[in-house]
Amino acid sequence: MDRASQQADTTIRIAGAGDIHCQDSRRAEAMRVFDELADPVDLVLLAGDLTAHGEPAEAAILADASQRIDAPVVAVLGNHDWHLARQREITAILTEAGVRVLERDSTTYTVNGAEVGIAGTKGFVGGFAPSHVSDFGEPALRRLYAETSEEVEALHRGLGAIATCPIRIVLLHYSPIAETLEGERPGIWPFLGTDRLAAPILEREPDLVLHGHAHSGSFEGRIGATPVYNVSVPVMGRDFWRIELSTSTVPVSPVH
Ligand SMILES: [Fe+2]
Ligand SMILES: [Fe+2]
Repeated sequence: MDRASQQADTTIRIAGAGDIHCQDSRRAEAMRVFDELADPVDLVLLAGDLTAHGEPAEAAILADASQRIDAPVVAVLGNHDWHLARQREITAILTEAGVRVLERDSTTYTVNGAEVGIAGTKGFVGGFAPSHVSDFGEPALRRLYAETSEEVEALHRGLGAIATCPIRIVLLHYSPIAETLEGERPGIWPFLGTDRLAAPILEREPDLVLHGHAHSGSFEGRIGATPVYNVSVPVMGRDFWRIELSTSTVPVSPVH
């Protein structure tokens, strides 16, 4: 049996959500949400803003909730998780609980016999054509530009690392496209993401991109052939969005 026919039947069930903003007053709700995920799911993807205020205790709620399911949970952090500069503690708490926190990194899982690669990073600000923050002027502004450049480079590296996986996913907090920001005030779009993050996605054509952050944005967009979903809970109006990806739908070439 060749590689293509071996992969033809493989489908993975994904549940994605962003901006779950765990906090003590909603602890019971977090447990309920993960209990309901016990419905068959192979992979859970969390698109940042895991906590309400960046408190490690809030991350501990998610750590507890994640214990209620068997499927791997992969997350990126959001700006709220960085707010108190305790993001390393948050990452440590989640990692201890078995949640894989991706920051400028990638990981792979074998799910139902198929290798799934996930490139994940928070992303950052910068705006969308024709209104980008530029690499010009005061050092503070140029540092902001450089921070986004680091995120873009990390996404390039992450997608390179998972290039041979038959199913490839990008997980972000900030948006790589303007399309999924429709509904947000255009004046704040430069703070909700940047299409500089779209370049590696356009080049590598992963199967799926998930992001959050834009609570009042739109659900669905596209970068070339790749579907992009803003899985921010307020946008979805539900706890998790579910999608199935099948290796039978990926291009013949094993390297992307
Ligand atoms: Fe959020
Ligand atoms: Fe956010």
